[in-house]
Amino acid sequence: MKNILVTGGAGFIGSNFVLDCLRPGHGHKDAIKIINLDLLTYAGNIDNLAAITHDPRHIFIPGDIADSDLVGRILRDHAIDKVINFAAESHVDRSIHGSGDFITTNILGLHKLLETTRQYWRELPAPAQAQFRFMQISTDEVYGSLQRDDPAFTEQNPMQPNSPYAASKAAGDHLVRAWHHTYGLPTLITNCSNNYGPWQFPEKLIPLMIVNALAGKDLPVYGDGRQRRDWLYVSDHCQAIQSVLQNGRVGETYAIGGNNEQDNIDMVHQICAILTAMQPPKNGTDYAAQIKYVSDRPGHDRRYAINASKIKSELGWEPLESLESGLKKTVRWYLDHSEWLARVTSGKYRDWVATQYDGRDGRNGRDGRNGRNPESQVSAS
Ligand code: NAD
Ligand code: DAU
Repeated sequence: MKNILVTGGAGFIGSNFVLDCLRPGHGHKDAIKIINLDLLTYAGNIDNLAAITHDPRHIFIPGDIADSDLVGRILRDHAIDKVINFAAESHVDRSIHGSGDFITTNILGLHKLLETTRQYWRELPAPAQAQFRFMQISTDEVYGSLQRDDPAFTEQNPMQPNSPYAASKAAGDHLVRAWHHTYGLPTLITNCSNNYGPWQFPEKLIPLMIVNALAGKDLPVYGDGRQRRDWLYVSDHCQAIQSVLQNGRVGETYAIGGNNEQDNIDMVHQICAILTAMQPPKNGTDYAAQIKYVSDRPGHDRRYAINASKIKSELGWEPLESLESGLKKTVRWYLDHSEWLARVTSGKYRDWVATQYDGRDGRNGRDGRNGRNPESQVSAS
């Protein structure tokens, strides 16, 4: 029996992970019980877990990773042997508008979670101590930004975080490392590239473009649109997490990536093309006509890329989804989940969109014109 405490399991990656684990035929050797602790911030959505509401292997508990009493009780009452920490503030733009919540959860909350876990772990009998794992889900953003011709990040890259979000995640990685080195807590860290897929909150690039395209709104591309990201379909990330949890070496860090580097503007054009094929715009044009260059993200990292050879050679993990098939599945999912979208894009979401995008026109952008980049009009065809 595996008793897993998943934190942040009502967010994008966490809910995909929980759903994948409990999917029929997933092929777990052991019986599994998942305790899902989530604070249900704006990014957490209990609707994501509707399919497993009545599954006795899943218990949802609303709460904060910083609540030591609650976490301590969960660890003891459910005889937890694995903790996977997805809980975080995760959006770079929000961290630029206000970094407080990022420090609170990604550093201070994680510190409480580590301490509560350590106190529980040190009371376990030796064999259970040896089997125990604390896994931190982190990001490639801790390594900073690459130039176009730089080699991709490996686990050996120095941490050079550039945004408040990335700095808070880097601090978290340091804490986890120290809790292993100093106290012997059996930890694992993964640093993954950009995920996409079902249940992603539409503040992030891909779902935002889909939502705005369907609503006939501008598709805001920051700066010159030539920043690059390495995209990984979320279920491939979930599979990688399973591999590291089961067979990763204690105290190690694993970089995870999709081998799918794309310039943002090219990514947006691909989304538009898929959407146009699946649900053409009513005016008979192409969604790409809605692309608008807007002023850049302050401190915008130019490029992330992952060399995932360590996880491949040690654990045999490789992504299964191609970018084309993953994007098609993702666009289809958003088209089929209009009710979910309507719910998550009401109220406070609209306040966020106004804060982030109103008045952010092309005048401060790289094109210096009216926000429509002539180059993009050409490559749109
Ligand atoms: P998300 O914002 O969609 O979900 C975060 C979840 O954490 C939400 O459900 C939220 O309610 C919960 N949460 C926040 N603060 C909490 C607290 N104090 N206590 C308990 N729950 C809390 O994020 P995501 O995109 O699913 O990312 C999950 C993790 O993976 C994060 O740690 C993120 O840094 C990391 N990551 C994300 C990506 C990506 O592309 N999305 C890539 C690499 C790593
Ligand atoms: O690399 C992993 C990281 O990927 C995760 O750790 C973060 O949690 C996740 O949010 C993501 O960070 P990014 O900043 O790369 O993702 P985002 O979707 O916000 O933006 C992707 C790129 O698209 C980035 O270069 C900024 C750009 N962008 C984004 C938005 C929201 C735009 O051009 N326009 C937009 O409106």
